[in-house]
Amino acid sequence: MHAFNIMPYCAIMPFTERLDIVSKKIIVLNGSPRNKGNTSALIDSFSEGAEEHGHVVTRFNLQRMHIHPCMGCLEGEGRLESPCKQDDDMNKVYPAFEEADIVVFASPLYYWSFSAQLKIALDRLFAVTEAHGMKTPKKECAMLIAAEEDSPESFAPIVDYYNLLMKNLGWEDKGMVLAGGVYKVGDIAGKPSLGEAKKLGASM
Ligand SMILES: Cc1cc2nc3c(=O)[nH]c(=O)nc-3n(C[C@H](O)[C@H](O)[C@H](O)COP(=O)(O)O)c2cc1C
Repeated sequence: MHAFNIMPYCAIMPFTERLDIVSKKIIVLNGSPRNKGNTSALIDSFSEGAEEHGHVVTRFNLQRMHIHPCMGCLEGEGRLESPCKQDDDMNKVYPAFEEADIVVFASPLYYWSFSAQLKIALDRLFAVTEAHGMKTPKKECAMLIAAEEDSPESFAPIVDYYNLLMKNLGWEDKGMVLAGGVYKVGDIAGKPSLGEAKKLGASM
């Protein structure tokens, strides 16, 4: 389910250049609790690249939303705009997820995994699968990770997990940025990973 919209500046472009322009809807699930942290900087760069190419980016700062963990009731209520029994801020995410072409998982590496904020939101998407008759809607996906460590070994568990998600959800991987060697807020400034994130956003 892809929504292709003509970019707003088409009017000033020659007709021949308009035909291959597609604008995708991208949602970023930001699992970092730090407002101006390293994950946030990765998202800023990714969004800049994506928006320069006409895509529309909607960012959910999960830390500042009221989202409860999945209760495992398996009693989703079938409404696409609010499929879960729980009534909280996931009801802001669900309609955007339904419309999105691309989902971006953005998180600090916490104990070699997603932060709890992101994992909780991901678990709550199970209600969408239920609402679609146990079929997860097809999406494209990307991942942005900030971490103190900077070795293939430290990123291996989250890369494996992401690949397993893609395989089992039937989603298409569009790429990832693994920004290692960043610990404190601001550590990421001037690092090549910001350029990589912008390039990834532009490649959507
Ligand atoms: C609870 C917690 C767990 C962490 N676990 C890891 C880890 O397993 N590996 C790692 O490299 N860094 C780990 N870190 C460091 C963060 O990933 C790192 O500081 C990152 O840059 C934070 O991103 P942020 O600025 O977006 O919050 C951890 C930090 C915290 C607070």
